[in-house]
Amino acid sequence: MIIKIKSNSDRRNTSRRWVGSLALAAIALSWSAGTMPAAEKEVDVAKLPPAADKKVDFAKDIHPVLKKACLDCHDASGGAGNFKVDTQENIIKGGEHGPAVFPGKSAKSPLVHYVAHLVKDLEMPPKGSGDPLTKEQIALLRAWIDQLPKPEKAPEPKTPDPKEEKK
Ligand code: HEC
Repeated sequence: MIIKIKSNSDRRNTSRRWVGSLALAAIALSWSAGTMPAAEKEVDVAKLPPAADKKVDFAKDIHPVLKKACLDCHDASGGAGNFKVDTQENIIKGGEHGPAVFPGKSAKSPLVHYVAHLVKDLEMPPKGSGDPLTKEQIALLRAWIDQLPKPEKAPEPKTPDPKEEKK
């Protein structure tokens, strides 16, 4: 299944007449990559490992993995993207670009997409900065998210609108 978040790929055009617009598209792409990471990507959730079939304990199964892989850049002082992995609450809350986790919806949670390397330029941990999480670890992360109680007014995954991005 493909979740089409928003894509610029239809702007791609190999014809020479379109070199000018290609350059513009490239500028638009690099601009958007810097300002709104998740917004322009297609995420193929079929590539995700399935959620682990076990009851997950955040403190025991999840937090140690995230602290080891992420805390260097995402500590309590408000690290990269103002995303903090110091507490379960902050992990769910997410960073500058909104929630990283949608309780009950692991396949739609940006955090899962990032650790599974489904979003280009937002692989977490970034390439060259530590080992990627294993399939088993991603499966556990998914199980944790799927088992989280849904808050009464859960934020819904939505297609971000560039104009609304400034919060
Ligand atoms: C070597 C440093 C580094 C490590 C390690 C790292 N990250 Fe990141 N992370 C970044 C940077 C830099 C950004 C900002 C990227 C951007 O906005 O283009 C980021 C952004 C994010 C965001 C988006 C925050 C937002 O709302 O803007 C999430 C979620 C995230 N990282 C999760 C993780 C997770 C989960 C791990 C561990 C598995 C991890 N990161 C490990 C550097 C790192």
